[in-house]
Amino acid sequence: MTLRRSILISALSLTAVLAALTATPAATASPTHDPGQSSGAVAVPDDSLRALASRVGLRIGTAVNTDVLATNATYQQITADQFSSVTPENVMKWQVVEPTQGTYDWSAADKLVKFAEAHGQLVRGHTLVWHSQLPTWLTAGTYTSTELRDLLRKHITDEVSHFKGNIWQWDVVNEAFLDDGTMRPTIWLDALGSSYIADAFRWAHQADPKALLFYNDYNIEGLGPKSDAVYGLVKDLRAQGVPIDGVGAQGHLDTKYGFPNQMRQNLQRFADLGLKVALTEVDVRTTVPDTTTPEKLAQNADYSQMLEACLLVRACISYTVWGFGDAFSWVPGVFAGEGSADIYDENLQPKASYFALQQTLMLASGAPHRDGTGAGRR
Ligand code: XIL
Repeated sequence: MTLRRSILISALSLTAVLAALTATPAATASPTHDPGQSSGAVAVPDDSLRALASRVGLRIGTAVNTDVLATNATYQQITADQFSSVTPENVMKWQVVEPTQGTYDWSAADKLVKFAEAHGQLVRGHTLVWHSQLPTWLTAGTYTSTELRDLLRKHITDEVSHFKGNIWQWDVVNEAFLDDGTMRPTIWLDALGSSYIADAFRWAHQADPKALLFYNDYNIEGLGPKSDAVYGLVKDLRAQGVPIDGVGAQGHLDTKYGFPNQMRQNLQRFADLGLKVALTEVDVRTTVPDTTTPEKLAQNADYSQMLEACLLVRACISYTVWGFGDAFSWVPGVFAGEGSADIYDENLQPKASYFALQQTLMLASGAPHRDGTGAGRR
């Protein structure tokens, strides 16, 4: 094992406490069932994203593909070294946790929770109520509204209870709006009306009163009709005393659409309601294979400007990338002709967008002072 410079990071305080030279990068396990209260410390490189972000109390997260984590040592090392929060990319979704009605399979998600504990990371639970990746028994079944409501309550209660004490933030409701700001027609809206949203937050809170409960969506990063609609929803929920703690903006950008309109101001208005905010699924896709230089520059700018918007809003507690390696990105499978969306390349080498984030984090904790006068010239 090579000697390398590292810094000890308190899993509790989010503040880098000691710069140290240590002989081993191995993590000190800090098993705890209360993720906010761990007193364990882990050794990570002092120029890693997580170490730099800890100086300003920000968690840098990544979505994790648990199949790759199980088999790829480089992927494991980067996950542990660079990130202080993890989100299961798929393995907490309903389709995965209850493939057959009444039979739960928590195994893959449990392993990720253990990995996070061992590496001083917090877990974003993703996601409890969504229209996608539902089990076939549910989508193909015929249910009355009452039955569907009972099924949803049971799903939320059972899943949140299973992970109780191990989840920092839960994405309770995901993608409930369309881009024009109207509510997305889904199995839930169609059967239950919009009240399913408040119910979901109440049920999740009952099952784990300490978890931070988030509404999560895409195309709500900047000011616009969809963000206005979500703002209206969460303001109403707060006014009704519904236990919602935060809003997640996914941050799936594409170089062809430009940067979201007034992102910092948008995040701040949610914060002004007393909510936390988070960037939850950041990636920046572009055309492949013939990516141009301007497109690459736009990717670097988009990554770092999203981070800047978060850094400038005190209530923004985490910035999570939706995976970190182009070889494992969801983008090519979903957006024809697009890719190269992540901060590491196909060979898990850091790209310019990684260094853009690193530099932004360095600036966030203070640029070096200079006196500005040159010898012989005034
Ligand atoms: C995606 C995963 O990355 C894919 O592996 C999966 O096939 C489909 O879902 N918004 C979300 C995420 O909230 O859950 C989605 O994740 C990406 C879009």
